[in-house]
Amino acid sequence: MNLVVGVGLRANTPYAELRALVDSALEEAGPGAVQLIVTVTDKEAQLHRLADDLKAELRAIPPSELAEQPAPNPSRYVEHVAGTPSVAEAAVLAAGAELVVPKRRSANATAAVGRLPAPGYQPADRDVVNRVIAERRDVRRGFLNLPIDGELLTRVLESAHRAPSVGLSQPWDFLVIRDLATRRKVHDLATAQRDAFAASLPEDRRARFDGLKIEAILDTPVNIAVTCDPGRGGRHVLGRHADPRTTWFSAAIAIQNLWLAARAEGLGVGWVSFFEPADVANVLDLPAHIELVGYLCVGYVEEFAAAPELVRSGWAKRRPLEWAIHHEEWGRRDASIVDDAIYAGQNAVPATGQRVRVIVGGDTADLHEADALVVDLGPERPQADFGVLWRPARTPAEAVEFGVEIARDLALQRVGHLVVQLEESSERAEALARGLKVGASACGLTHSSA
Ligand SMILES: Cc1cc2nc3c(=O)[nH]c(=O)nc-3n(C[C@H](O)[C@H](O)[C@H](O)COP(=O)(O)O)c2cc1C
Repeated sequence: MNLVVGVGLRANTPYAELRALVDSALEEAGPGAVQLIVTVTDKEAQLHRLADDLKAELRAIPPSELAEQPAPNPSRYVEHVAGTPSVAEAAVLAAGAELVVPKRRSANATAAVGRLPAPGYQPADRDVVNRVIAERRDVRRGFLNLPIDGELLTRVLESAHRAPSVGLSQPWDFLVIRDLATRRKVHDLATAQRDAFAASLPEDRRARFDGLKIEAILDTPVNIAVTCDPGRGGRHVLGRHADPRTTWFSAAIAIQNLWLAARAEGLGVGWVSFFEPADVANVLDLPAHIELVGYLCVGYVEEFAAAPELVRSGWAKRRPLEWAIHHEEWGRRDASIVDDAIYAGQNAVPATGQRVRVIVGGDTADLHEADALVVDLGPERPQADFGVLWRPARTPAEAVEFGVEIARDLALQRVGHLVVQLEESSERAEALARGLKVGASACGLTHSSA
């Protein structure tokens, strides 16, 4: 453990007295190495000797800064002579440590001990981590016809294999596929799913989708099927018993590690999910208990784009971070999403794009048109269908908020016009419809009522 000692002393304090005081405080603190001695002025020779003896750094912090610390045992006398009501305790706190031994005193000195948190990385190293995260891209085009070195690929897979996993069950495996014939079969599956997805889209959205590339199965020298064995680790995997989904989460995290490590090595990765997983399992002849989690296309690329391809192509936009962070209770964000929408609506730039009919309080039977979306406010979770949004708002205020959010989310998906159709006469349904209109205005969407 890393300890910090805060010291206040009179100029003539004998070293033996100071040392005995500090030793007794350290004994109470328990095991640990002293990293830092902090005080208000480092002119005294005894402090330098103490730092040398304890092999610690000596740091002086000005009284004005010490005076700002919430030291538990301030003293008027110390404030009078030192310009801060606390030296030893305040020094520990100012060093960023948790106070574990409060101020104790001898005839001429005071000492307190704190515990420093384990250190993070230096700023330059942190920048690299953040850069890799920010500059990782899902890549589907611009792959180069270059082989991937075996050792490099092993390094990348090693990073994937270091991922956290529930109960350390490590449920993943990595099936590395280079064979062209196998890749062709997988490619055929993706093509069929692409066609099926295109057929489900409203016309204007389909036109945009036609211009998008969604896989690079044949353009990359290596494909990796990342699988999950849901039963790995047997019956008593720690943490999985209450939430079996954690197994698949673990495999997905391994993919993210792979993705980041590949980016650091200059390898592009594209995740393809245009499959029925069982079809891919069949082509790859996987054992029946092994499931596909992700199918990755890996290769060297011309460049890594600065923004996601779906953003650059105008298909979708990123959701602002402020919308995603709630404090203490659901919906309590730094900025109210409703107020924020009303404000944004005053300066909205008209959006263009697809028209969506949002049926508030309808049921799945209303989903016959490709541009329809049902919002179900009922207490029971409806059958899974991406055309139904389940929003069981607890209050009308929450319903407004859900409406705003749906509209703004649709705007991120490049919707341009909302038709709001109210099928339920309840306060919550009306509030949700109101929210849809506020959210639509905020994003420059036109809206009408049906
Ligand atoms: C689980 C998952 C499945 C994905 N499936 C596909 C896919 O089938 N085709 C595709 O082109 N991109 C796919 N992507 C990539 C996303 O579109 C991409 O991550 C997103 O647009 C953000 O872009 P970025 O990864 O470059 O930041 C998938 C991503 C994830 C996480």
